Amino acid sequence: MSLKTLKMQKNLRGKRVLLRVDFNVPIAHGKVKSDADSRILAALPTIDFLRKSGAKTIIVAHLGRPEGREKKFSLAPVANYLAKGLGENVLFVKENLEQVGKVERALSPLKDGGIAMLENIRFYKGEKMNDAGFARRLASLGDLYVDDAFADAHRDHASITSIAAFLPSVAGFLMETEVTQLSKLLQRPKRPFVVLLGGAKVADKLPVIERMQKLASTVLVGGGMANAFLRAKGFQTGRSTVTAAEVKIAKRFLKKKNVLIPIDVLTAKRLDDRAQPIVRKPKEVRRDEFIIDVGVETIRAWSTILKKAKTIVWNGPVGLFEVKKFSHGSLALGRVIAARSSGEAFGVVGGGETVQCLERTGMAQFVDHVSSGGGAMLEFLAGETLPGVKVLKK
Ligand code: 3PG
Repeated sequence: MSLKTLKMQKNLRGKRVLLRVDFNVPIAHGKVKSDADSRILAALPTIDFLRKSGAKTIIVAHLGRPEGREKKFSLAPVANYLAKGLGENVLFVKENLEQVGKVERALSPLKDGGIAMLENIRFYKGEKMNDAGFARRLASLGDLYVDDAFADAHRDHASITSIAAFLPSVAGFLMETEVTQLSKLLQRPKRPFVVLLGGAKVADKLPVIERMQKLASTVLVGGGMANAFLRAKGFQTGRSTVTAAEVKIAKRFLKKKNVLIPIDVLTAKRLDDRAQPIVRKPKEVRRDEFIIDVGVETIRAWSTILKKAKTIVWNGPVGLFEVKKFSHGSLALGRVIAARSSGEAFGVVGGGETVQCLERTGMAQFVDHVSSGGGAMLEFLAGETLPGVKVLKK
């Protein structure tokens, strides 16, 4: 797939570059968690290039899924984190984009080679509605649009797609690498091809399983998603919440022979370090328990499958890995995936939390491609032309 790229751009000095990145990273106590900054690090080559080229870089990003201007979703901590990492001032612009003149004035101190960051782009309805007027207003702040937000390329949002109608648009270095690396998987992946899925955003990912199930030899489903399957099979999931819509989708896949769900799970009555986890068969899960990880038999069985794979894709932790006691399944399977990659199998791991989890295994360097995209990576691999990639094609 041939993209228009940043590499091809000359004479950037003094140009206002709108750089769309994915800085959707976990924030705790008003700060970016330092072990969860991989998406920020991944955008640094593009940011560095723009700085050195003397461009005025205006970063556009989102955080979470806010309903309006919710303070807890402010990008201010991310701007601080970036500034510290770069050892450079990052001009944080809180001004409302609905009054674009005010934003322009706030940006006016930006010098050649300088960096600014706008407040969470999802504070505006126009972003998610992919409103052309909103995109035009945003575009008026720049001379060039650079998209490095591969992790959002599956979203048809104003700062991802519509904006390209109003500005010359190119892929940043991260976007280019992601598309090049993941395209390798689309060209006849070696089999057995095993996909491990887990994590949150269940409603988003369930439809992707359908496409993955056709593509892969085996799809292993753990984490929050597995609960929908367990419920669809008539098991209790205790206090782990599952919606009726999720159960309905999961029911469709139960007949598919290559979609496997946990044969045992870890449960606990509370979700912190003081919990006392117990391994249970799905039929033994009690009403007052949460499902917090896959069980030991599942880890063993899935490891055997992964050890025979020639192609592996992993997205989504299989348990609530943030709590150490609940992280064994994700770490054990992550280690098997990393060990099998770089040689025996072509291994791809993607998604914010999944990458964080992989890094905790200390074996991330063995994985062939660590993708910044979660949902975007899965949709790309399922053969979708992502809207955010389509607008960057030559
Ligand atoms: C992600 O975390 O996968 C991306 O930032 C996209 O976020 P979204 O699922 O809220 O659109």
